[in-house]
Amino acid sequence: MPVGTQGKFRELYMTFCLRATYFLRNTGTVKVVLGNTYHLENRPGSEILDMFNGLPAFINWKRGTLTDSGGFQMVSLLDLADIEEGVAFQSPVDGRQLFLTPERSMNIQNSIGADILMALDDVVSSASTNDTRFEQATRRTIEWLDRCISAHRRPYQQAMFGIIQGGTDKYLRTTSIEGLLGRNHHLPGYAIGGLAGGEHKKTFCEIVSQCCSRLPRDKPRYVMGVGYPLDIVVCSALGADLYDCVYPSRTARFGTALIPEGVLRLKTTSMATDYRPLDSDCDCLVCKNYCRAHLHAKIKKDPSAASLLTYHNIRFQMRLCTDMHIAIAEQQFTPFVQAFVRRMFPQRP
Ligand code: GUN
Ligand code: ZN
Repeated sequence: MPVGTQGKFRELYMTFCLRATYFLRNTGTVKVVLGNTYHLENRPGSEILDMFNGLPAFINWKRGTLTDSGGFQMVSLLDLADIEEGVAFQSPVDGRQLFLTPERSMNIQNSIGADILMALDDVVSSASTNDTRFEQATRRTIEWLDRCISAHRRPYQQAMFGIIQGGTDKYLRTTSIEGLLGRNHHLPGYAIGGLAGGEHKKTFCEIVSQCCSRLPRDKPRYVMGVGYPLDIVVCSALGADLYDCVYPSRTARFGTALIPEGVLRLKTTSMATDYRPLDSDCDCLVCKNYCRAHLHAKIKKDPSAASLLTYHNIRFQMRLCTDMHIAIAEQQFTPFVQAFVRRMFPQRP
């Protein structure tokens, strides 16, 4: 799920001079895009979204949508005012205070009208060393989930996912999983939160594995904030289904293209005379029409040309997911993972 925080995909506007969503449609397999409750409440705001009858019509996106609850923005954006009742934010747009409670998050997400919405969770940065804070957040996430369940006005139109928290502590994760499983009939899907924040990869894998092994087999599992192509492949092997990340678009803004071997930095001088496409396996418009040298020159002249890399990177991630899908359906996922890893790390035995 590509991330368009305020319902727009800014780097896709420039080069193509058309609505970004048109190009996401063209990347072929994007089925769901993600927006953020907190940002959408700031701009365009519930009033305008209500006028359009929700985000999908506002951005003219006819496929799936998902909104994050605002829980994550408390660690990623601003100092959290730590309040049992909810979370206080200061708007980076106009300095206005926004007080997010489970009820308010549900209310806004019901106005946004995405197909999937997320319960409000209490997120702690995985870099934190405060153990009691992880305990408090685990407990609070379950309490807030009950308030979200009561406040959700459209459970038959919008699927609410619960979020597992608990940091890197296996015991807290178990508490969180069991809390969610106790409310299984209210939850059409599950998310694994509180990861991808700089914890060790081994710990990350262990937590994803622990969560996936306990979750119902017939409901989607969504690892939030992932990620890198390698992480997507590894998490899928551990049993996860859905991911969201700004990485493909953000890294493109810095001049980096995703390729099966890893990454290509288009700004480096070696690109100036490289006449190959970004990725010769890729069917995207950029790979079909430009070589690396051309893109190197274009980006040097005009940084907004990096939008071409966004387009390719999103297509790259989507093709990766489609290829995984096919491999799983054909019971060829093990050789798929082996080939993927060999190509990315050819020098290792
Ligand atoms: N995005 C990335 N990680 C998280 C998380 O733990 N919670 C929420 N709500 N969003 C996220
Ligand atoms: Zn491409």
